Amino acid sequence: MFMNFRRIRKCQCLQLISMCFVLSVLMVCWEQLDHHVVRHMKSYSYRYLVNSYDFINKSFSVTREEAESFYRYPYLLDHKEKCNGKDVLLLLFVKSSPENVERRQAIRSTWGNESYIQEELGVTVRVVFALGVHPDPLRRPTIQQKLRRENLVYHDLVQQGFMDTFHNLTIKLLLQFRWAHANCAHAGFLMSADDDIFIHMPNLVRYLQGLKAHGVRDFWAGHVHRGAPPIRRKDSKYYMPYEMYQWTSYPDYTAGAGYVVSGDVAAKIYQASLTLNASLYIDDVFMGICAKAMGVSPQEHLYFSGEGKAPYHPCIYEKMITSHGHVADVRHLWKMAIDPKIKQISSGLMGKLYCTAVKVMLLCKPYYVNTYACKAAFS
Ligand SMILES: *[C@@H]1O[C@H](CO)[C@@H](O)[C@H](O)[C@H]1NC(C)=O
Ligand SMILES: *[C@@H]1O[C@H](CO)[C@@H](O)[C@H](O)[C@H]1NC(C)=O
Ligand SMILES: *[C@@H]1O[C@H](CO)[C@@H](O)[C@H](O)[C@H]1NC(C)=O
Ligand SMILES: *[C@@H]1O[C@H](CO)[C@@H](O)[C@H](O)[C@H]1NC(C)=O
Repeated sequence: MFMNFRRIRKCQCLQLISMCFVLSVLMVCWEQLDHHVVRHMKSYSYRYLVNSYDFINKSFSVTREEAESFYRYPYLLDHKEKCNGKDVLLLLFVKSSPENVERRQAIRSTWGNESYIQEELGVTVRVVFALGVHPDPLRRPTIQQKLRRENLVYHDLVQQGFMDTFHNLTIKLLLQFRWAHANCAHAGFLMSADDDIFIHMPNLVRYLQGLKAHGVRDFWAGHVHRGAPPIRRKDSKYYMPYEMYQWTSYPDYTAGAGYVVSGDVAAKIYQASLTLNASLYIDDVFMGICAKAMGVSPQEHLYFSGEGKAPYHPCIYEKMITSHGHVADVRHLWKMAIDPKIKQISSGLMGKLYCTAVKVMLLCKPYYVNTYACKAAFS
């Protein structure tokens, strides 16, 4: 009897312990899930129900001198003459880093080849690499020497004396808009892109020419993040402290990997940068803040990829504008992009049907794929 009682007690105890264990595991997981879900619910309701980002004008306003302090770095390499006397359709900034010589080389000989664009597409596009200085002071002199030599050959580096780090990307954003205002204000469009992106230049040029013919204004397109919540996990690359941004949702913005604005929007962003606190270091979010302050909103283009990489298929090349995360394969993609045979695949009714079917298979997966949205298959 006594033995039995003890056995029951022991059993219950074990049960209790294991239940506690399961519960605590659940709680930990739930906590994270909860956080994630709640964060998004809060941010979406803010975005879609409240949708007044009135605080931005007030909370981010600083004096002109204070705004200027984010831009006080001297130019170490510059090409003020880049746009002179040309009818520039697009000024394209590539956000590069001092050591990424190979990426720049690949871009110059593929989608960023200005002479190819001029000769084959018949428009003037100016490609400029935006740089800071190498963060390691020991390696800086050698790298700087190499940059100077590279610049003598290609004349396309624009560099300011701030440290080229992830958390200084907003300074690089200011460089782009302020440089454009000073040296290329007449460009029809301004684009900002990462140096590990592929741009289907013929498609982009055709798209922009169409917009220009319609006299488009207030234009800002890319892969739009709507109602994105600030990330409060300290271990995230995109961690946002409360002191810097205390609200539950960012204003809409386009992924920094690649987006385009019309000339008038570029001028407005420049204006905003003269009065806003640029210490918020996520550059694309800060761009959203500048735009909100000026009453400009972004529009989604299904073939701007954001963080994602487009699948390799001739049917995709027909429409693609940008695809992110390309380094070694840029040359291959470019060959495909300008190959006239690739274009023929989707011509005619059969070609169109075939390509729609292929795109549905590639883009409309039941699980999340980080590339163009399913909708893009039907556009
Ligand atoms: C750029 O394009 C031109 C004209 O198509 C070509 O002659 C030149 O070799 C290209 N430049 C590079 C670096 O590939
Ligand atoms: C940004 O650049 C400035 C100027 O070089 C430097 O003092 C600062 O430490 C950099 N900030 C980050 C976060 O790298
Ligand atoms: C700009 O914002 C930062 C971070 O939110 C803050 O610490 C700083 O005081 C602000 N600067 C001005 C001049 O208001
Ligand atoms: C303030 O914000 C609104 C929209 O949020 C915008 O239309 C307005 O132009 C902004 N700027 C100023 C200086 O009031």
